Amino acid sequence: MSILIKGGTVLSSTGSVRADVVVEGERILAVTAPDGWAGQADTVIDATGKYVLPGGIDGHTHMEMPFGGTASVDTFETGTIAAAWGGTTTVVDFAVQAKGSSLLSTLDKWHEKADGNCAIDYGFHMIVSDVNDGTLKEMDACIDAGVNTFKMFMAYPGVFYSTDGEILRAMQRARGNGGTIMMHAENGIAIDELVAQALSEGRTEPVQHALTRPPELEGEATHRAIQLAKVTGAPLYIVHLSAMQALAEVAAARDTGQNVFAETCPQYLFLSIEDLAKPEFEGAKFVASPPLRDKEHQPKLWQGLRTNDLSVVSTDHCPFCFVEQKELGRGDFSKIPNGMPGVEHRMDLIYQGVVGGELSLSRWVEVTSTTPARMFGLYPRKGVIAPGSDADILVYDPEATQVLSAETHHMNVDYSAYEGMRLKGRVDTVLSRGRVVVDGSGFHGGRGHGRFLSRELNQYLN
Ligand code: URP
Ligand code: ZN
Ligand code: ZN
Ligand code: ZN
Repeated sequence: MSILIKGGTVLSSTGSVRADVVVEGERILAVTAPDGWAGQADTVIDATGKYVLPGGIDGHTHMEMPFGGTASVDTFETGTIAAAWGGTTTVVDFAVQAKGSSLLSTLDKWHEKADGNCAIDYGFHMIVSDVNDGTLKEMDACIDAGVNTFKMFMAYPGVFYSTDGEILRAMQRARGNGGTIMMHAENGIAIDELVAQALSEGRTEPVQHALTRPPELEGEATHRAIQLAKVTGAPLYIVHLSAMQALAEVAAARDTGQNVFAETCPQYLFLSIEDLAKPEFEGAKFVASPPLRDKEHQPKLWQGLRTNDLSVVSTDHCPFCFVEQKELGRGDFSKIPNGMPGVEHRMDLIYQGVVGGELSLSRWVEVTSTTPARMFGLYPRKGVIAPGSDADILVYDPEATQVLSAETHHMNVDYSAYEGMRLKGRVDTVLSRGRVVVDGSGFHGGRGHGRFLSRELNQYLN
């Protein structure tokens, strides 16, 4: 089976070129069709006037994730189909260690959930919530099993929280085995006090979620995580960075050459505390941690994306339905399940940065695909259009427009955080390992097409 993608502008993290792309089987064969090749293709895709770029890599999703007595509503099937609709062809999801269970049994459990169910390729990070001699040793075995990124939490005491001592020990292990520690950096001990105070004073509305998790406590935790990483020599990746205080800490560490990296998410670039303050409990739709911030943080985050102090945009896709799930926190904001949907809209939303003059086309490709591929050990199999790479390809129409809505999205959730938002640009055609999974006539992929990706180590380490 061969496909010729003809007449488009092929984008990479370093520039763009007018070229035809030849796909043979699951891989890219050539980026300028060899002479006389045009006639041989089984299928020709006309990309005239369109961009041809590597499929998106979303390095932070939570399908079927247990949280707060419920679970995120996208399954590996529905969530990866929605991702494909949005031009994302790889997700890295989080296996979640429950206290008292082993890392390897956790990994088995997540393979059971995902294997045979994904529509696009996928990998795993491991959430470590129970640090002990056994689990520290198991980190090495996870790496052998293709999972070399370990998320820890400075937030959520009693649930996922680890003490500084536990974090230090896990970082020492990562220093020895080549793993990268991913950090949810919010000071959960202080936050829990602020939450208790708010509730005791009768402040129960969703906006209190943000008011009890001030940006300073993200900055403080980020600083602490960076110092622990420095002492141990472990690489550190700050997930879902939302606050300028945290960004300043990351930038300062990177300026010294420390192996510190960070991602942000579209919700922090486009939404704000004003959404959390919407009346009639509507704000619950926007409860995620860290919380949506004051709008003054947004230009700093765009700047961080330009300077590479923010290297990656992931979604932290963790959808809970408004009806029945977000409802759990009516009258007590601390019981609203934390998380927002977004896996479908990352490529489109970050493209608005190109439209608005915040990012170059190359930087759009870099933060959504090429850097995640390198950071998470998938490059050059993923993250680039080059001979030999997987044919994960997004054909993007820069002139089309669309309006985001729960009526038309494909995520298995009953609301859109971006309801009514008008965007320039639109996904035209998506290939996953050489198969056309999305085009103008609909979805042609399917459950089970996606394969597990055993990942190599982070390629950015000094
Ligand atoms: O609120 C969020 N972000 N939910 C998902 C879990 C996490 O902390 O990433
Ligand atoms: Zn987190
Ligand atoms: Zn800098
Ligand atoms: Zn997350």
